[in-house]
Amino acid sequence: MSAQLIDGVKTAEKVRSQVKEEVAKWVAAGHTAPGLATVLVGENPASQVYVRSKQKACAEVGMESFGFNLPATATQTEVEDLVRQLNADPKVNGILVQLPLPAGLDEEKVLREIAIEKDVDGFHPLNIGRLAQKGRDPLFIPCTPYGCMVLLEEAGVKLSGAKAVVLGRSNIVGMPVALLLIRADATVTVCHSRTKDLAAVVREADVLVAAIGKPEMVRGDWVKPGAVVIDVGINRVDDASKAKGYRLVGDVAFDEVKEVAAWITPVPGGVGPMTIAMLLKNTFRAAQIAAGQ
Ligand code: GUN
Repeated sequence: MSAQLIDGVKTAEKVRSQVKEEVAKWVAAGHTAPGLATVLVGENPASQVYVRSKQKACAEVGMESFGFNLPATATQTEVEDLVRQLNADPKVNGILVQLPLPAGLDEEKVLREIAIEKDVDGFHPLNIGRLAQKGRDPLFIPCTPYGCMVLLEEAGVKLSGAKAVVLGRSNIVGMPVALLLIRADATVTVCHSRTKDLAAVVREADVLVAAIGKPEMVRGDWVKPGAVVIDVGINRVDDASKAKGYRLVGDVAFDEVKEVAAWITPVPGGVGPMTIAMLLKNTFRAAQIAAGQ
């Protein structure tokens, strides 16, 4: 059996063009273009690339972006002061503090300073708390987990009653995606480095979300035939045959797992492109909230 691909490039493009249309109508109705502020502390090269991509994506859908770079030596107070300044700026609808922050800064304290109605990453403790509670709704859903859910919807996966296994319990992906799957009435198991007999637990999954950051860890014989596999991992592995000297692989051994699963996301081109698409959607929503809509 060969799995069907869940195409993140195509789905992300659909989301981005919807947002672009909404922004055009918004501006035509006399509103200012939605604005996203990005805060980058330090010079982590991967974070620099992500932030640039986010700014470029804003421009492509007609949104403003405002980039703020602080040195790695910035103090807690300096970072928090910048966030407070952005909270007060009406041109800024969404605030994104790129993570991880350099060692020594208290991430939770910084995220807590972001005005909840501008928390387009959905990482404010109040947003996450609401995500975790029955009958409450967060204002924003974290972008990568949100993208995973849109891809599952795109593939027509029935989550209610399904057994879902999440590999990884990070604040950015594993934990929030587990909470979203619970909200969608799946029965969810979260696995991590201390999980015993991981392969046997994974083999139970109708829906598997791998977000563990270990190249090709999930093998073909770990996966239940007919499962749906969402691979969040983006790992560099050495490959002398490539001009760059490396290639990108997921947390799932794609060539093996595609023979067993019913649906699978490729890497690259699966979850990756969805993160920025969902950020744009959240930023547009933030502009609506700011306008009382
Ligand atoms: N670092 C890795 N992923 C993300 C993300 O989605 N948002 C932010 N702010 N930082 C990240």
